Amino acid sequence: MMSNNDILELHDKHFKKFITREQIHDAVKRLGAQITSDYNASEVVFVVVLKGSILFATDLIREVNLPCRLEFIRAESYGTGMHSSGKVNVTHYTGMDLTGKHVIVLEDIVDTGLTVKQILAHLEEMNPASLKIATLFLKPEVCKGTVSTHYVGFEISPLFIVGYGLDYNELGRNLADVYILHETP
Ligand code: IMP
Repeated sequence: MMSNNDILELHDKHFKKFITREQIHDAVKRLGAQITSDYNASEVVFVVVLKGSILFATDLIREVNLPCRLEFIRAESYGTGMHSSGKVNVTHYTGMDLTGKHVIVLEDIVDTGLTVKQILAHLEEMNPASLKIATLFLKPEVCKGTVSTHYVGFEISPLFIVGYGLDYNELGRNLADVYILHETP
């Protein structure tokens, strides 16, 4: 039987514990070590995609042993609940100069890949020396390789998840574990 800690209710839906904070910590540590080794002491600019990537970003950058800078963008995809419209508006919060820089975009989740594709097109125009994506979650069956994700924490099935920055209509971002949509019988 499941304890109350394993099932939670947000708005009109129930969610079940899916990935624990320990598993997330291990994945973030692995990605941090991989990035540290790949960039071989070069300076990196992390572009954090608000709001969902905030927890991933704050944990990941502490696992990266490189000189690094932080920039923030917001990618709003004009959708509510569990569906995005596919149209993305990218907003800057800082005066970014990415010219000649090694840039890594930090995303919470790549679902259809449309958001990250439009972010990449936007950042490409700033002529970075290199541009890569780190995402904590990837739904490979949905995005079907339309975008290359260089650093991936977890590949997951195409179901809706919340927690560790990810929301359902703005709730659930503060959860330390990740929960998956659970239809009650
Ligand atoms: P895209 O379909 O790859 O463009 O994803 C668009 C955005 O939808 C992501 O950046 C997330 O903010 C959100 N999203 C996609 N899948 C999920 C999910 O399972 N839970 C919460 N948000 C999601």
